Amino acid sequence: MKKVRIHHFAEMKSRGEKITMLTAYDYPTAQAFDAAGVDMLLVGDSLGDNILGYDSTVPLTLDEMIPFARAVSRAANRAFVVADLPFGSYEVSPEQAVESSIRMMKLSGANAIKFEGGRRIARQVKAVTDAGIPFCGHLGFTPQSENALGGRRIQGRGEAAYEEMLADALALQEAGAFAVVLEMVVAPIAKRLSEALDIPTIGIGAGSDTDGQVLVWLDAMGVGDWHPSFSKQFASVGEAMKNGAAAYVSEVKSTEFPDATHTFDE
Ligand code: KIV
Repeated sequence: MKKVRIHHFAEMKSRGEKITMLTAYDYPTAQAFDAAGVDMLLVGDSLGDNILGYDSTVPLTLDEMIPFARAVSRAANRAFVVADLPFGSYEVSPEQAVESSIRMMKLSGANAIKFEGGRRIARQVKAVTDAGIPFCGHLGFTPQSENALGGRRIQGRGEAAYEEMLADALALQEAGAFAVVLEMVVAPIAKRLSEALDIPTIGIGAGSDTDGQVLVWLDAMGVGDWHPSFSKQFASVGEAMKNGAAAYVSEVKSTEFPDATHTFDE
């Protein structure tokens, strides 16, 4: 099984092979996705709301994220691991972005860093890539700015919005990004951006014409009750866990479990 490396994504784009990315936050989940052939595992800051129960990604800190990114990196034999920098750990200056990225890379073993924004963080991206750290961008709906954006809103409607997003995407590409996530962007705009950029686009709620797709794994595998309309449920993990736990409770209460096969004799 050949390890996925940074140059493979440009090669996939040029031959029209779609790139697959799923979020992962822990060792066993990352192991399963790695074995299934997912190209990129994203330790997204969505772990703040999905795993730690915060209201949004905003409260999450770099120190909280690192152990999750380390667990995912340990499990990834083939997949390329991208770790998010959380809100507040890169916006202040290029120096802050480089320090946070180096800390994440050294302590987690991730292969690349992702953070949100376009032209406003281009200096940070340049400093990070100049430090030898692969960088993935994130445009469209950027959850860390949800207070400024007025909530979860679809992005990219209209020609002016396209021009803005193109300028942001080109700034990231120019600064050395190897790929860019497009979140909740109307499909025709995501298609035009994908055609205009040399680097691959990875869409989430951005239609089928991006160079790859990413989903939050809990949405894709049916854990929890919230199912965004752009996500598809590929499994029913939550239901399977609920049924398994109910069977366990029932068998322990009825003394059916453990039986002789689960018991050590003298
Ligand atoms: O944190 C995350 O899960 C993400 C994806 C939505 C792309 O950034």
